Amino acid sequence: MKPVLLSFHNNGPLGLGGLEDRFNIIRLWKEQDPESVIQQHKNDVVAINCALSHQIGKKLIEALPNLEIIATYSVGFDHIDLETTQKRGIKLTNTPDVLCQETADTGMALLLATARRIVEGDMFVRTGKWYNGKLPLGITLAHKTIGIVGLGGVGSKIAKRCEAFEMEVVYYGPNKKDVPYQYYSNITPMAQDCDMMILTCPGGEATANLVDINVLEALGPKGILVNIARGSVVDQPALVGALQNGVIGAAGLDVFADEPHVPEELISMDNVVLLPHIGSATLETRTKMGQLVIDNILAHFDGKELLTEVVRQK
Ligand code: GLV
Repeated sequence: MKPVLLSFHNNGPLGLGGLEDRFNIIRLWKEQDPESVIQQHKNDVVAINCALSHQIGKKLIEALPNLEIIATYSVGFDHIDLETTQKRGIKLTNTPDVLCQETADTGMALLLATARRIVEGDMFVRTGKWYNGKLPLGITLAHKTIGIVGLGGVGSKIAKRCEAFEMEVVYYGPNKKDVPYQYYSNITPMAQDCDMMILTCPGGEATANLVDINVLEALGPKGILVNIARGSVVDQPALVGALQNGVIGAAGLDVFADEPHVPEELISMDNVVLLPHIGSATLETRTKMGQLVIDNILAHFDGKELLTEVVRQK
């Protein structure tokens, strides 16, 4: 009998065909009663394939005594209970690197769309307002200072793109890096010195509510905030209030505190651009991510080194 792969999603455009020979794949999203299917196969499940909208918590992990590996179709892994996986010695893999270009492009798209009122302009044309009105002016990017929060894989690619737009790049993160950009060890003074700020850091406890009302006040009434990291990095009610009261100027958001729920107040604002968490969502990149998930799972069961293991601090 083949071991069981518990899959929470179809692994993007590539699908799960590449694992069919080796595993009995349970496609949980197709099940009427997922809980009872898990219960029925709990002793046979050796691998989980999930994405960031699937909470892989203590209860589930503990219910699967033979689970060996969790392969997430995302770079972030804040949806997985790391303490429990670590305690059980369960391997964890993610999909870094392959999505950095794409996510950086999404960040730039949001920055441009927000600063230049692209979505508002589109609505302006579609609703016939061009005939008797003027779209408010946008904001220039060139020669403005952009603060990147988290200069990792995605943040570094954003920095290169911002340089090409002739922007001044500065950054905040836990460590100073060997890069030609000014470093801030504290986010608030950086926000004070920035015209725009883009969040690309990981989610999780360490960055929860990092952008609070003090940071938003420091960014100021003309400031633009772009978030392509995690909703948890921003105090969302504070952000809504800051946008309503002119504490900051505008925001471009790909991520939210409780996806897919977006506060009603944001939906009715002109000074925000909203996306449904599509940082890496292109055919090419999602195919590469799916391949990495498959390759990691196969590597594990072939006794080979994992391609992209999430290595945790002991
Ligand atoms: C996207 O948010 C990811 O973690 O891949």
